[in-house]
Amino acid sequence: MSRPARRWAVVVAAGRGERFGGSTPKQYTLLLGRPALSWSLAALLASPAVDGVVVALAPRDRRWKRLAESRSPRISTCVGGDRREASVSNALLSLAARAHDDDWVIVHDAARPCLRREDLDKLIAATRRDPVGGLLAIPVPDTLKVNDGRGRSARTADRSVLWRALTPQIFRYGLLRRALALCVERERVVTDEASAVEALGLRPRLVQGRGDNIKLTTPADRVLAEAILRAGRRT
Ligand code: CTP
Ligand code: MG
Repeated sequence: MSRPARRWAVVVAAGRGERFGGSTPKQYTLLLGRPALSWSLAALLASPAVDGVVVALAPRDRRWKRLAESRSPRISTCVGGDRREASVSNALLSLAARAHDDDWVIVHDAARPCLRREDLDKLIAATRRDPVGGLLAIPVPDTLKVNDGRGRSARTADRSVLWRALTPQIFRYGLLRRALALCVERERVVTDEASAVEALGLRPRLVQGRGDNIKLTTPADRVLAEAILRAGRRT
């Protein structure tokens, strides 16, 4: 029997955070005294449009159980894979009994703690009737140089057509599973869901998001993230 499409969120938190370094994996690093993963879940949990959340964790994760969110009835967990797309695939598989092919899946990086509810709402609204789905992204503001391979600028790229991909990204459950399975079959490495969908010949919608939805990548990002979160508390 058909039912209205649901929305599931997948939060990928199974990475090693090698570029970030430190003794605590970056998804658990404290930002203003609260683990990054808690911040990253906040907007998703605050949205009534999200029916359930799956968090993909590293195989030997011991920290999740200490988070208050681990007791949320709306959240389940799964074990992630050796690459980001494998973590997403495992999370999708764990939803198999509950999700229908035309349900939406919102994939978000645990390493993006500054996501605002307004950006999530904007992404959901912009793709509500979209046949493909889409992602938060922002136009590249800088002049872009093409390295000739020897450390010299060969030319300047046309930035007017270039956008930086952020998360969340939203696609139909069935489509996303198909897209990721094809990437595995073709041994194609993808760094986001949209590139897997593009490989099917489809064009995800670019939804302009906030520039402060940064990813924790290197240690310098911690200062930035804390400043953004502090400013967000005041608005
Ligand atoms: N991720 C994941 N499973 C993996 C690799 C990454 O769930 N096998 C998640 C990370 O936990 C992070 C998000 O994907 O929330 C974005 O990836 P990235 O910033 O590259 O994080 P890491 O892979 O952890 O960092 P690094 O590449 O520096 O090791
Ligand atoms: Mg990585």
